[in-house]
Amino acid sequence: MSTTFQLDTSTSRANPTPSPMKRLTVPKIRARKQNGKVDEPIVMLTAYTARQAQLLDEHCDILLVGDSLGQVIYGLPSTVPVTMDMMANHAAAVVRGSYHSVVVVDMPFGAYESSPQQAFESAARLLKESGAAAVKLEGGEAMAKTVAFLSERGIPVMGHVGLTPQAVNVLGGYAARGRSDTESEKILGDARALDDAGAFAVVVEGVVERIAVAVTEALSCPVIGIGASSRCDGQVLVTEDMLGMFERVPRFVKKYDDIAALIEKRVREYAGEVRSRSFPGAGQTYQPR
Ligand code: KIV
Repeated sequence: MSTTFQLDTSTSRANPTPSPMKRLTVPKIRARKQNGKVDEPIVMLTAYTARQAQLLDEHCDILLVGDSLGQVIYGLPSTVPVTMDMMANHAAAVVRGSYHSVVVVDMPFGAYESSPQQAFESAARLLKESGAAAVKLEGGEAMAKTVAFLSERGIPVMGHVGLTPQAVNVLGGYAARGRSDTESEKILGDARALDDAGAFAVVVEGVVERIAVAVTEALSCPVIGIGASSRCDGQVLVTEDMLGMFERVPRFVKKYDDIAALIEKRVREYAGEVRSRSFPGAGQTYQPR
């Protein structure tokens, strides 16, 4: 397990780590898909803190500093109020806590949509302040020009189509997408546009399975599914969701554990011991030598 707190991008010489120069790179992730297929699915999870990154790093190919941190960390009602400062600070922590995975940081709502120039300034700031390797942004065809603009200027971009949470006020909720022919054609067209524009990977979220498979087969770059299909080129989940931190999660989440219950149980125990004065005990107090 990694114990480094050093900043180590794939090109860093100044900050040695337990595995110098071993961080995966964006081109390596992109090259995992050859002739329309990946040999092994790409593993991606969200991470928001240095310690979380340390625990996830060796098992993942990509750590996503998702703007889902708005809800998961800050208790916001959606991703819409998430700020650039939040993304930059959490991304820097995740980079410091990892040395193997590619760190991708979400561009928050309002930081990239108005023009490719605005997107470049925001993305450059995020990469400079955090050491992350790439940004992710939501939207399809409408964002293709921006994806090309950034990619051509040294900023790798991961796209995100289907259910795009930043558009919750337009979509009217978080229901699965692609149930009608028009909607499914739009999702496929959006994904293709991002691929053509140079996105190194595309997340497809909350779509009916046949669309996820069609997108995966159509794109030359890797397609990472969430609420999509096991036939995608990789999978991503919000780590807190899959660990069972929340009672209510989207239907597509598999809960691998119930850490909310564990925390509740242990905190109840602690509170009881504090109130009964059985904590701290002899092992946790200092006595004269
Ligand atoms: O913000 C996020 O966590 C995401 C993933 C769930 C894809 O965008």
